[in-house]
Amino acid sequence: MAVLVVVGAQWGDEGKGGVVDHLATQAQVVARYQGGTNTGHTVVNDRGTFRLHLVPAGIFDPEITCVIGSGVVIDPGELLEEIGQLTSVGVSVERLMVSDRAHVVMPYHPILDRLEEAERGAANLGTTLRGVGPAYEDKVARCGVRMCDLIDEVVLREQVKELVARKNKLLTVYYGQAPLNVDEVYEQCRDYGQRLKPHVTDTSVLLHKAICHHQNVLIEGAQATLLDLDYGTYPYVTSSSPTAGGAAAGLGIGPTRIDRVLGVFKAYITRVGAGPFPTEQINEIGQELRERGGEYGTTTGRPRRCGWFDAVAARHAVRINGMDAAAITKLDVLDDFPSIHICTAYRLDGEVIDYVPASLAAYSRCEPIWETLAGWQASTSDARSLADLPVNAQRYLSCLSDLIGCPIDLVSVGSHRRQTIVVRSSFG
Ligand code: GDP
Ligand code: IMO
Ligand code: MG
Repeated sequence: MAVLVVVGAQWGDEGKGGVVDHLATQAQVVARYQGGTNTGHTVVNDRGTFRLHLVPAGIFDPEITCVIGSGVVIDPGELLEEIGQLTSVGVSVERLMVSDRAHVVMPYHPILDRLEEAERGAANLGTTLRGVGPAYEDKVARCGVRMCDLIDEVVLREQVKELVARKNKLLTVYYGQAPLNVDEVYEQCRDYGQRLKPHVTDTSVLLHKAICHHQNVLIEGAQATLLDLDYGTYPYVTSSSPTAGGAAAGLGIGPTRIDRVLGVFKAYITRVGAGPFPTEQINEIGQELRERGGEYGTTTGRPRRCGWFDAVAARHAVRINGMDAAAITKLDVLDDFPSIHICTAYRLDGEVIDYVPASLAAYSRCEPIWETLAGWQASTSDARSLADLPVNAQRYLSCLSDLIGCPIDLVSVGSHRRQTIVVRSSFG
């Protein structure tokens, strides 16, 4: 019985949804702690293929309680749409619980996301335009609307009146846009709040009880370490703390309650949006990784930038997250490559370094130092144990494990839940 955090170890889209869907079969509770609808987690199981943005990937088992914690920012219209899509195919959302302290992505947040990105011009961050950054800005500025406010018609009316008036000044005077109508915003938000009300509760109490009853609690990270507000490639990051440290704050549980951290890595690496990316392959190799891996954004459909595995960035992720074990996903995408490269260190201004520099300018100048391994040029997608894998694929995995200094618990060789090789139990 354990509390296990599953965290993205690269720049996102590592296959966290698939890993959580696989591990959820052993859990009683699955909880999200940060992010918003910038997240796109793909799950492929016997129920079908799903792209989840806010709902935790444990939702397919009616016995599991799913929690959206206080650290998540919730677009209520999007959440209702996701709930509608799941219920229309027979997936019950009765056990979906939403923190009363979670902040709301208000109708003006996506508008401001778009306007802020446009204002950045060529230096734009390439955000998902879902209003996630502006919602977190308001949370920190102490002018956010929380779920407990959204479901209270009286409080909501006062907040909308005041906040929309303030945002309208920004929209009209600074950005030269049309103002929002206070009554329309209120009516829309009131409707969302009343529809979501049955799901809203103090989820930290619920989690506390589950932990006291020694249940397996699976914590689902969104985004990833290199997109972390503090330890990612700032300012090309997301506006929350996706690292394992964010889990305690984003769920209202003590850090002493977390037992294990599992980092999810692709067997190579991708990035969506702008920012430095030392191992990026802007050539046929990158193109091949993109096509074989289906590397197009789950949320925005944008082509993902692709490159070889970066062991320096991976060690950074192992350290920042206190990672106990790794899940390596999408090994099958490398099946046809005659040789495979791994970045083992960076060269910065003629010096060999083994860390991710804080300075954006310095990180942009880092060049990878490569180690090359022979490929296996055989299909791995039917492998169900390490022994089923070609010898060179086994060597590649053991090389990755040595380079990142972390044992491997899971390997995935296809997008379906069953295409997972279990090396060790992740719940300990
Ligand atoms: P997440 O955001 O970390 O949950 O990842 P995404 O869902 O955005 O992107 C991962 C993509 O890779 C999805 O399309 C998955 O279905 C797919 N995927 C996950 N694991 C594997 C795997 O082992 N092999 C292949 N070929 N695809 C996978
Ligand atoms: P999952 O959970 C990949 C990226 C955006 C952009 C930056 C900031 O599916 O791994 P934001 O909208 O958060 O303000 O955008 O972060 N980004 C992601 N990239 N996967 C994600 O989520 C991402 N969520 C945000 O592309 O570069
Ligand atoms: Mg994704």
